[in-house]
Amino acid sequence: MIIESIITTRNLDGSAHVAPMGVIWRDDKPILAPFRPSITLDNLILEQSAVINHTDDVRIFAGCLTGRSIWPVRPTERVNGWVLEAALAHQELVVERVEEDPVRPRFTGRILEAFAHHPFPGFNRAQAAVIEAAILVSRLDLLPPQKIASEIAYLEIAITKTAGPREREAWGWLMEKVAAHQGRKDQ
Ligand SMILES: Cc1cc2nc3c(=O)[nH]c(=O)nc-3n(C[C@H](O)[C@H](O)[C@H](O)COP(=O)(O)O)c2cc1C
Repeated sequence: MIIESIITTRNLDGSAHVAPMGVIWRDDKPILAPFRPSITLDNLILEQSAVINHTDDVRIFAGCLTGRSIWPVRPTERVNGWVLEAALAHQELVVERVEEDPVRPRFTGRILEAFAHHPFPGFNRAQAAVIEAAILVSRLDLLPPQKIASEIAYLEIAITKTAGPREREAWGWLMEKVAAHQGRKDQ
């Protein structure tokens, strides 16, 4: 199973790096699979630890994909790192095993401790739509324009029907990026 999460890692200068990533869960162990090149990958190699953040603030997913990567964090408890203030829950891990790969190495983690901060607020379709659209935005150069347009038209239904202010703001950032990409292609 893959859980779309926000991974926080520690940069060389001690600051936090925040990046959306799908965490593969196998036999109760998390596997992080960053594509090369990636700051998350560099930090995992350097620090051998990371934090998996679970948040319903989908602006963080959309924001990281649209150049908004400064999100409030506080220090972690079991590893030398950072947890998102917006995390409903988080897990602190150390790297247990690395599978080298020229494209996408895999880091299997061992959870040192899991923390719950707020109760699960329930499912929201607009949040799922923002996450799907963020994945589309991360692949703008790889996908045909018609596919992007048709998927966005479908996802927008959930935004129109079920979004709150945070989801609308996140959607707006993503749509700006799609429009800018489309504009560049039309030139
Ligand atoms: C929901 C979601 C899941 C993602 N999962 C991954 C992933 O598993 N591996 C990856 O390399 N990038 C993934 N991405 C894209 C990264 O977030 C993005 O490329 C980011 O810049 C990572 O690079 P960085 O560590 O240099 O910031 C995902 C993006 C989204 C929106």
